[in-house]
Parts: sequence; structure tokens; C-alpha cells
Amino acid sequence: MRAVAVRGTGATPKGSAPEGPAPEASAPELMELPVPLPAPGEVLVALEAASVNPIDMGIADGLLPMPQVYPLVLGVDGAGRVTEAGEGVRGFRPGDMVHGQFLRAPLGHGTFAEYTVVTEFPDSGALQRVPDGMPAEIAAALPTAGMTALGALEAIGLRSGHSVLIVGATGGVGVFAVQLAAALGAEVVATARPDADRWIRRLGAARTVDYTAGDTAHQVRRAHPDGVDAFLDLTRDTARFGTYAGLVRDGGTATSVTFTAPPELLASERITVTNYAMRDKPDLLARITAEAASGRITVPVQQTVTLDEVPEALARNAKGGARGKTTVRI
Ligand SMILES: NC(=O)c1ccc[n+]([C@@H]2O[C@H](COP(=O)([O-])OP(=O)(O)OC[C@H]3O[C@@H](n4cnc5c(N)ncnc54)[C@H](OP(=O)(O)O)[C@@H]3O)[C@@H](O)[C@H]2O)c1
Repeated sequence: MRAVAVRGTGATPKGSAPEGPAPEASAPELMELPVPLPAPGEVLVALEAASVNPIDMGIADGLLPMPQVYPLVLGVDGAGRVTEAGEGVRGFRPGDMVHGQFLRAPLGHGTFAEYTVVTEFPDSGALQRVPDGMPAEIAAALPTAGMTALGALEAIGLRSGHSVLIVGATGGVGVFAVQLAAALGAEVVATARPDADRWIRRLGAARTVDYTAGDTAHQVRRAHPDGVDAFLDLTRDTARFGTYAGLVRDGGTATSVTFTAPPELLASERITVTNYAMRDKPDLLARITAEAASGRITVPVQQTVTLDEVPEALARNAKGGARGKTTVRI
């Protein structure tokens, strides 16, 4: 089968497979690999679509502390049809269309491939049936970014009538967060470069600030002199987390999905500050999928690439400039 994989991450795997030091780090490349076999409790899935997330390059760089197999096939989000169910699988049958975050140990059976194997209950991810009528591309674009947006907004306790500053609003997580917050009745202030300004407003932002044009905090403060109720950080801009958190009114909340909130702010008594880590992924996946299936949110796809174009798409996304999701047609 065709798959996009790395020959090594350079990280010493924790756990059993493989034994010994990891192969030297390498760049993602298209390879011809054997179709994996489903072990007991696993299903074999013929993938039809996948989507790109920043975590893909994180895995390629060996940043996830999980056991790994090599060549390590990349990709965590995907959608496809079950072609074989391993011994003991109860929830899925051959022919079922499934989607989710195919994140399980050992890392290496990713979704940038024609086939993958995944446990019925992924230890670190989530797997479920695709709702009738939902295209595979949409089902593959939703999981990681959608679950993160939904979970993080709940973590900041966003309510109707609240104002929320979303920094990094134009990327994969952001486009879901903006829509979910607006649908809730919150007033969304979104960061956006000029090219994405009108588009992010159409998705639900009431106001935009161009973080590349002058003092962003000043722009927000002018519109909200008493502060915003909440701040959601979707960037890795550690230096600016404190500045943005300073825009939150007393008693408000601030959270980072990239662990940029520093210890001194986590201890703040003025506002509630957290670093968000996803929990109960099966529940989040079911709920974000229901939001998309009902049409309450759309799934903005910036571009669709083929498997052989994935290495280039990963490199491009790592440089920044994401506008919604990049999907892969398999
Ligand atoms: N905690 C979790 O469970 C979890 C789950 C999923 C994702 N994440 C993390 O969340 C982050 C966002 O994920 P994603 O999928 O949305 O990434 P993405 O698709 O690459 O989008 C990032 C967006 O942020 C914008 N941006 C970059 N620097 C910015 C800055 N300084 N100020 C304002 N906007 C900025 C980018 O646009 P421009 O480059 O044009 O500015 C882009 O639109 C990633 O770091 C990812 O690893 C965490």
C-alpha cells in the first residue's frame, strides 16, 4: 500500500516496540509498505480521506512520548471503511464507515495511508461511525481540531453574551472555535491577517484584529475597555500569552491549548488560567460530529491534496498561514 511515513524520529521510544534506540530522524516521504493485519480487538480500515494537523509533524519529530514502530506512518485524523474486524471486536463490522482520531500506541499506523489498523477503543484517540450522508473528507477534517475547539471552549466556561478573544482563529482549531462560540451567542474577537478578515467574520467573528499590524492588545482594549470575558490561545506565542490574559476582566478565564500559560499566571487569583488538555475524546468526537451533521457549523477546507502531496503539505502548514483544514484524498 502507499503511505506517507518517516524512517525514524530520532526519539528513543518508551515501551516495548521497537527495542533499542530509535532510527535517526528523517523527513516524511511516500513509501510502499505492506498492508497491516488487524490484531485481536483491532479493525483494518481502508482509508478514503485524512486531514493534516500540527501534531503530525510533532510525531515525525518524536515529540509524543509513546512507543513507536518504523517506518512510522503519519496522520492521526481519518475516515474510511472497515474491511476486516479482528477477533473480539464488538462495535464495528466490515462495511462500516468510521472516522476519528486514530491515535494509539505504538505510534506508526497513521492515516496518511491506503490502509490502517486501529483498536476498537483507541487508548489515546476516538473512533466512531460516520453519520449517514457525511462525506469522508468532512468526517476526516473534524476530529482533532473540532474536539479541541469544543473542549477548550467548555474549559473556559463560555456562555451566551460573553465576549471571547480567540488568538490563532484562522487555523484548523480556530475555525471551529469561532463558529461554536458564535453559535453559543458569544461575541467573538478573532485575530486574522487581512487576507482572512472577511472570511473569519463570515464564520461568526464579530470583530477582527490583525496581529501583524501594531499593538494587538491595544486594538482589543479599544473595543473592550472593560476587558473580555475569556481568552482562548491557539498559538505557540508564549511571549504574548500574558499580554492577552491581561485583557481579560476580573473573574474571567484564559486557556491555552499549546501549554503557553506560565506557572505565575496559572496561580492567578484575578482570573482563572488553565492549560487545556483534551479529555473524554469519544464524547467530544460524538458531539462535534453532531454539530457538523446538523449544519450548525461548517467544516472549512482550505485545500485538498493527494497522498503523494502530503510531505509538501506538512512542510507548508508547519510554516504557518493555515486557513481552516487541509484534507487528503486517498
Ligand atoms: N491541547 C490539545 O489537545 C491540542 C489539540 C489540537 C491542536 N493543538 C495545538 O493547537 C494549535 C493550533 O492548532 P491548529 O490545528 O489550529 O493549527 P493551524 O491549523 O496550523 O493554525 C494555526 C493558526 O494560527 C495563526 N497564527 C500563527 N501565529 C499566530 C499569532 N502569533 N497570532 C495569531 N495567530 C497566529 C496561523 O495563521 P498565520 O500564520 O497566517 O498567522 C494559523 O491560522 C497547534 O499548536 C496545535 O498543536 C492542541
